[in-house]
Order: sequence, then C-alpha cells, then structure tokens
Amino acid sequence: MVEKTYENIKIEKEDGVTWLSINRPEKRNAMSPGVHFDMEDALTHLAVDKETKVLVLTGAGNAFCAGQDLKAYFRENDNNPVERRRAGLASHHWRWELLSRFPKPTIAMVNGFCFGGAFTQLCACDFAIADEEAIFGLSEVNWGIIPGGVVSWNVAQMMMPRHAMYYAATGKNFTGKRAEELGLINSAVPADRLRAETLELAQGLMKLNQNVVRYTKEAIRAVKNMDVETARDYLAVKQDSLARMDQEIGGRVGLNKFLDEKSYRPGLGPYKV
Ligand code: ACO
Repeated sequence: MVEKTYENIKIEKEDGVTWLSINRPEKRNAMSPGVHFDMEDALTHLAVDKETKVLVLTGAGNAFCAGQDLKAYFRENDNNPVERRRAGLASHHWRWELLSRFPKPTIAMVNGFCFGGAFTQLCACDFAIADEEAIFGLSEVNWGIIPGGVVSWNVAQMMMPRHAMYYAATGKNFTGKRAEELGLINSAVPADRLRAETLELAQGLMKLNQNVVRYTKEAIRAVKNMDVETARDYLAVKQDSLARMDQEIGGRVGLNKFLDEKSYRPGLGPYKV
C-alpha cells in the first residue's frame, strides 16, 4: 500500500508497528496548526489500517514535542479567531479524542523534550516509555497561561495530587527518571535502549489477542470515574460483547486448552498460542 505523506508528521511501518512522529525537529516538534491537521487525518486513517497493530507516537530528532507552537499556534492566530478555533478543535481532537480512543494499543516513546500541551498526547497513549534523561515540563506558568486544553485534567488524572500541583504551579522541569517515579510513564531507559524497549513492549502486545487487549484498555479507562456498581454492570456487558464478537473467546478456546488439552498455561504464554 502506498503510504500517505504529510508535511509536518512522518509515518513508518515495520512488522505491525506504526511509528508516528511529529516531524519538525528544527522547532523541537512544537505543534503548529499544520501538525494538528496532519495528525487528525493520519490517526483517522491509521485507526482502520490493517497493517497497524500497535501505534508508537514519538518525535523526530531530540524532542518528543515542545508543546504548542508559541508562534504559529498562538501569536500568528491572535487576530484570526476562526483559524485559532479550527486549530484548537483539531488539536483537542487528535491529542485526546482520537488517541485516547485509538482501537489498538498506543505507546508514547518520549525521546526528548516534552512540554506543556504535549502532556495531553502523553497521557492519551496507553503506555509511555522515556529516555531517562528526557526533560519534561509543565511550562505554561512561564507564558502567563494555565495548563489549558485538557492538560490540567490530564495531569490531575495521571499524577498524585501533590505532584500534579507542584509541577504545574512551579513549572519546574523533571527528567524521564523522575517521570517514572511519579507514575507518569511506565519506564525510563537509557537513550540507546529506548527504541528496543519500546519495540519489545509493542511485540509483546501484538502476541496477545487483539480484541481482549482493546476491550481491556477501553475498560480500564472507562471505569475510572464510575462507582463500583456501575463499573460492575459495565464490565459484565463489555465481557458479553467481547465474547460475542470474538469466536475464540466465545468458544472458550483458552479454557479448553488449559483445562482439557493442557496445552497452555496463562503464566507462560499468551491467550492465543
Ligand atoms: N513554540 C515555538 N517555537 C519553539 C517552541 C515552541 N513551543 N519550542 C522550541 N521552539 C523553536 C525555537 O524558537 C527555535 O526556533 P528558531 O530556530 O527559529 O529560533 C527552535 O525551536 C529551537 O529551539 P531552541 O530553544 O534553540 O532549542 P533548545 O534545544 O536549546 O531548547 C527547548 C529546546 C527546551 C524545548 C526550548 O526551545 C523551549 O524551552 N521551548 C519552549 C517549550 C515550552 O514551554 N512549551 C510549552 C508551550 S505552552 C503550551 O504548550 C500550551
């Protein structure tokens, strides 16, 4: 299949893993309106792309993303409310709605600077791995703005309250290593191991039943703000739906393999062997 190309982002596919990068390394991958429009289009296509089993979001060069482009996103649209709104809608659409509901596993590979608005796509991804020396910062306080869009909500959800308050209100930077301690990312690794560790996670996810992984990630996100009775009901219906749409699960193939055939043990292998 001929891959679509974009001016501001880059797509590379490799054995089921799609590497999606903001491609403005000279601007440390700051998000211009063009980045938002390209991402909106690309994620819409990749969601239904059969070659994409796992999506890795990253940045070209030495930055994951330096936040919103202070010039192209903010200043240049100061007197153009329509363009500002168009860019704002696209920005929220891809960074939160499209990414947090992406139907396949998503991994943020934080290869360097991660500032401001970039926290939304970081939190929208299901998993995050960073270079241990990557620099993170909720730098909005320095620009006379609050962590807006949904950044404040993202960090309030993802971080312990004291940490969210401290880093948002002071704008102090922290490293990938600290981000791991804070629970903002899954793991921090040396730069030369970053791609390999990300690939290992992606390949592990690909070995699992894709429907179960999808339903699980949707369930984990959905129940967070439910009371226990609502969650119990939702999860029962979700499981029913999963069993109906996946013949192997509906047919209890996994249970048969474990209980009858004795050909599979969950602690030692994936659901589908
Ligand atoms: N918006 C616009 N341009 C940016 C941004 C940004 N967020 N970040 C970097 N750039 C541009 C710089 O202006 C510079 O452009 P130029 O070459 O035309 O002068 C280029 O990218 C390289 O930036 P440097 O500062 O020279 O690169 P360095 O590697 O020394 O530092 C760093 C990188 C730390 C990311 C620094 O550029 C920085 O602090 N950027 C601002 C980050 C920030 O606060 N983002 C949050 C914005 S607010 C929000 O997202 C809601």
